[in-house]
Amino acid sequence: MISRPKTQFIKNVSSGLNTKIIGKNVYHFETIDSTNLYAKKLVKEGVEEGSVVISDVQLSGRGRKNRTWSSPNGGLWFSIILYPKISLKNGMLVTMASSVAIVQGIKDIIGITPVIKWPNDLLINDKKVCGILAEIEAEKDNIKYAIIGIGVNVNNQLEKKLYKTATTLKQEIGNQVSIVELFRLILKRFDENYNRLILGDYDFIRNSWLLYSDIIGKKIQVQDDKTLVIGRVTNIDDNGILILDTENGPTRIVCGDLKYL
Ligand code: BTN
Repeated sequence: MISRPKTQFIKNVSSGLNTKIIGKNVYHFETIDSTNLYAKKLVKEGVEEGSVVISDVQLSGRGRKNRTWSSPNGGLWFSIILYPKISLKNGMLVTMASSVAIVQGIKDIIGITPVIKWPNDLLINDKKVCGILAEIEAEKDNIKYAIIGIGVNVNNQLEKKLYKTATTLKQEIGNQVSIVELFRLILKRFDENYNRLILGDYDFIRNSWLLYSDIIGKKIQVQDDKTLVIGRVTNIDDNGILILDTENGPTRIVCGDLKYL
């Protein structure tokens, strides 16, 4: 098993954390290519569920759809390893539970509640403050592992090209935010929500997600690799799939880039 030194950072994070599953092992780096990639190596080694990889800086941070994710010092860049015993068709609920946990962690520390933009971006004042890259591997209908990569803009300097579309927690409150404190709060909230999920309380996750999302009733367009769909959102089904009322009738949307119209 790959082992890493217990840095002061890890000691500060772990002290009195008292979670059931999440964050019992924390692997901390100053610099790494991508925490998701390292998490994959740990999965191959058979690492314990709930292990977390965090790095101060990522040199090849990855976003959804093979985009890059700018990850300089001052942000919160980490990945959580999960082995959820749930069916693949419920896989979206893992990401939904993650979004909920991060909203709650951010609310706990700065008192502002980010809005969830489907599928899993978190926005404050319409600007992106957090992105999630969920990498789920399944065999038939069973999830083998899920790596939930989470990037939160905290005290980091944003690249100029992101000024219009992204924000940081520091920018929103005008003060530095403690990375250790934020990380601890998110891990605790993650643990609460994940435990509800694996107990099968899917309604709890779906309802919490709906509470923090503003999507129901909105007119949107969703673009995936091949198609563009326009319609009004009427619901999110039990599996986290978006139901749109379109001119061709009700349409189910599993993934894509969403724009409010
Ligand atoms: C998105 O495109 O919105 C998802 C961004 C996810 C970024 C995080 S940062 C930690 C983890 N490691 C990565 O390489 N990506 C995710």
